[in-house]
Amino acid sequence: MSVITASSGAMNVPALAAGRALIETRLVWWYFAASLTYMIVAMLAGFLFSLQFLQHYPLAGIELFSPGRWRLVHTNGVAYGFIANAFLGMLHWAVPRLTLRPVRGRGLSYFIFFAWQAVVLATVVGLLTGQAQAVEWGETPTWVDPVALAGLILVAVNFLHPILQVQGPMYVTLWYYVAAFVWTVLVYAMGSFLPEYFVGGAASGAIIGLFIHDLVGLFVTPLGWGMMYYFVPILLKKPVWSHGLSLVGFWGLAFFYPLTGIHHFLYSPIPMFLQYGAVISTIAVELVVTTVIINFFMTLRGRGDALRTNLPIRWFYTGMVFYFTTCLQCAFQATLTFQKIIHFTDWVVGHSHLVMFGVFGFWLLGMMTHLIPRLVGAGGWYRPSWNAWHYWLSTIGMLVMFFDLVIAGLIQGFQWRDLAPWEDSLVASAPFWLTRAVSGTMIIIGQFFFAANVVMTMLRRPVGSGEDSADAAAAAI
Ligand code: HEM
Repeated sequence: MSVITASSGAMNVPALAAGRALIETRLVWWYFAASLTYMIVAMLAGFLFSLQFLQHYPLAGIELFSPGRWRLVHTNGVAYGFIANAFLGMLHWAVPRLTLRPVRGRGLSYFIFFAWQAVVLATVVGLLTGQAQAVEWGETPTWVDPVALAGLILVAVNFLHPILQVQGPMYVTLWYYVAAFVWTVLVYAMGSFLPEYFVGGAASGAIIGLFIHDLVGLFVTPLGWGMMYYFVPILLKKPVWSHGLSLVGFWGLAFFYPLTGIHHFLYSPIPMFLQYGAVISTIAVELVVTTVIINFFMTLRGRGDALRTNLPIRWFYTGMVFYFTTCLQCAFQATLTFQKIIHFTDWVVGHSHLVMFGVFGFWLLGMMTHLIPRLVGAGGWYRPSWNAWHYWLSTIGMLVMFFDLVIAGLIQGFQWRDLAPWEDSLVASAPFWLTRAVSGTMIIIGQFFFAANVVMTMLRRPVGSGEDSADAAAAAI
């Protein structure tokens, strides 16, 4: 496989100019608006659930609002409402530019937009009315699953159409996207139908483990890395350091990631050779990730000032540091030795937040920080300083939440190992759960800064035109 560089695409100015007309900017903006709305709702749901741990749940006694259901709204809301919508918007921006062709159908794109919002809303209603399935992250009610799968197939058709027409070498971002479209359909079908209708017992546990992890590794991760390979060179105005390494990252992910899922069920009745295989491939993923991280940091070499002057770049690279941290942590977390202590503890919840918000959430918010002024036709952000608040509150809140939950997890794990009474571990956890609620509040306030800035930017549309002034605004932060 050979690749073309983002910069060679970016320098092809006439093609880019034509490409701009190929993009349904309004739809990209709609996806981002939907994504941000769900993000705030889902985060508030997480905060609501965190109050249950403090024995201050405000809606106790109302079945529809029972805390367990809000947990599912939180996790499904962030995955399918926030993250999926943001990626769909980003794909409508990036794929036509990279292929210089429109998506399969403009009408189809709008249809998918409305259908996807209907799927997410139906999921929320289904979860609140008690129709969840017992599949983590596949809790979507059974009647929603076929519709969601049909939607994912349409998404694949819509984007694969222009990609498969590309003649000659393909930029690495498109490799990741092609893989993501194929994998996501397969993963969703596997998790939503096999454990429900075809496989039982420990085998269904193994499949659910694969589903949970593949959803992160084969849907979110390739879209996320593909996005980084697209936006980082454009913002830094230089090519990726090594295309060879970008291929190592792609094929390493393709080879090792699908094998990791059973690390969610270590010490379970699933055959030990599968558990050992999952541990080894999890460690291998960390090695692969290291090559990708090296590639991006070498790309930054000589442009380190961008971390200070360009806010989207700062979001991206902070997310990369978190990515390395979370994968390193996982390489230990997935060993049988660590599992003896941390299984079922808050350590895992800390890990989940670091990867889902600290990495992919950060990348998506950075991408939106870059694109939204362009999408709404504004010359720059209404208040660049509010975006800086957004970044700092999210980063500090994320760090506090992560360390808080990791420490809580260790304390819980050691107490359980020493056979201390369960209540003792609850008492020991209380201050950590309070800290989680406080750090979550910081994160949520950060998102309100961003949401307010988006609304004001749209309403006020500061004078100035085009991408340069938006770049200048980003650079001023
Ligand atoms: C976009 C940002 C966020 C993402 C992507 C996210 C993601 C997740 C995920 C994946 C889980 C499942 C963890 C697991 O089972 O291992 C989870 C659980 C949870 N999250 Fe979040 N979260 C976010 C923000 C927040 C915020 C702001 C709060 C506020 C305190 C919060 C509170 C919680 C709580 C209380 C749980 C349940 C933990 C448990 O069951 O023990 N989350 N979140």
